Amino acid sequence: MTAYDNFFSSIAKSIKASEIREILAIIRERKDVISLAGGIPDPKTFPREELAEIAKRMIIEYGDQALQYSETKGILEVREMLSHFLLESRGISIDAENIIVTTGSQQALDLVARTLLDPGDIVITENPSYLASLGAFKIRGAQLVGIKIDKHGMRTDLLEETVKKLVSEGKKIKFIYTIPVSQNPAGTTMPPDRKKHLIEIANKYNLLVVEDDPYSYFVYDETVDVSPIKAYDSEDRVLYMSTVSKILAPGLRIGWIASPEKLTRKLELVKQYMDLHSPTLNQFIVAEAIRSGLVTRHAHKLSPFYKRKRDAMIKAIKEYFPENVWYTEPVGGFFVFVYVNKEGFDTGRLLRKAIDKYKVAYVPGQSFHTDGSGANSMRLSFSYPPPEIIEEGIRRIAELIKNEN
Ligand SMILES: Cc1ncc(COP(=O)(O)O)c(C=O)c1O
Repeated sequence: MTAYDNFFSSIAKSIKASEIREILAIIRERKDVISLAGGIPDPKTFPREELAEIAKRMIIEYGDQALQYSETKGILEVREMLSHFLLESRGISIDAENIIVTTGSQQALDLVARTLLDPGDIVITENPSYLASLGAFKIRGAQLVGIKIDKHGMRTDLLEETVKKLVSEGKKIKFIYTIPVSQNPAGTTMPPDRKKHLIEIANKYNLLVVEDDPYSYFVYDETVDVSPIKAYDSEDRVLYMSTVSKILAPGLRIGWIASPEKLTRKLELVKQYMDLHSPTLNQFIVAEAIRSGLVTRHAHKLSPFYKRKRDAMIKAIKEYFPENVWYTEPVGGFFVFVYVNKEGFDTGRLLRKAIDKYKVAYVPGQSFHTDGSGANSMRLSFSYPPPEIIEEGIRRIAELIKNEN
C-alpha cells in the first residue's frame, strides 16, 4: 500500500481493475487477432452527415438555449419528444413529467442505485447479467441474487421461488433488474408470458422492477414479441430505461428513465448532485433526430445490417462448434452467449492462449455471473467485425474448444 491508498474512499478501494479487461485492451493493437470481445456498435452505422447537419442547425438556431445550463430532469421539449417516441416505438404511455434525461443508461443505472440502494439490500438480476449494472449496484453495497436463465431469458418460476424464500427469511429486496429483450450478455429475449409473470411477482411481493432496454428498437426477426415489461405495468412499479447509444451513437451519451410518478422527484434531486444536467446540446440533437424521423429511419437500416452479422455468427457456430456447446440465438442486440460443457474448461484461464495461439478473443463469462459460476462460459459479440471475419473467428474458437481444457 502506498501512502495514497489512505486517501481513497471505501468505494474507490472496492473497485479493482480486472485482469481480463487489461488483456482485452492489449488486443486492440494486435491486427492478427480477431476480436469477438468488444460489444460496441459498428461505426459504419453512425449517421455522420445527418448528425453534423442537425448539430450545426441546433447551435445556430437554438444556441442561446442549446449551449446553456438546463433543467436537471432534461429540457421539456426533449422530454415531450421522448414521451411521443416511447408511445410510438415501444407502446409505453408516459407523461413528459415522469421522464428523466440521463447521461447514457449507465448514469440511469447509477442514479437508480444511489436513489434506492442501501448496503445489504438485495437486488435480483438475471444470472448472467450486464457487468456495468452489476458493478453499479455492488458499489452501493447491494447483495446480488442471480436467477438462472434458459434460452428464453430469466426463469420466472425460479424467480418466484427465490423471492418467496428471501421474503420469508425477512430479507429486504429492493428491485428486480432485468434486460428482457436481447439481453447483454446472454442474447436472450423473454416471451410475453414470462414478462407478465415477472410483473405479477413484483406486484404480489411489492417490489420495484428496473427494466433496461437498449436493444429492442431494432430486432432481426419481426415476428418476435419484444414489448417492454413497462407496457404491462398496471401498478406503476417499473423504472424503464433506454438510450440512443445503439440506435444513433453512444458518444452522444443520452439516455432516459421513464419513472414511476412517485419516484421521479427523488431521482431528479439525486441527479442534481451528479452532473446538474445531461449535455444540453446533445439533448437538442437527439430531440431533433427523433422529430425529423432520423432515429426511426436509422433503426430500420440497423436491422438488416446487424442481422447479416448475427446470421454469420449463428451459421458458423452450427457449422464448426462441437456438440457439447450450449449457445443462445439472439433476435436482436449484439451478443451470443456460450457455455462449454467440458470438464475443467475455463474461459478466463484460456483467454491468453486463445489470443496467442488461436488468434481470437472473447469475453470470459464468469464475471457476468452473480455467484462465481460460469467459468465455462464466454460472451461472443458480432456487432463490430464484418461477417466473413466473424465466421473465421468462430472457426478459431471452435478449434480452441475442441483442443483445450
Ligand atoms: C444492457 C445495457 N445497459 C446499459 C448499457 C449502457 O448504455 P449507455 O451507453 O447508454 O450508457 C449497455 C451498453 O452496452 C447495455 O448493454
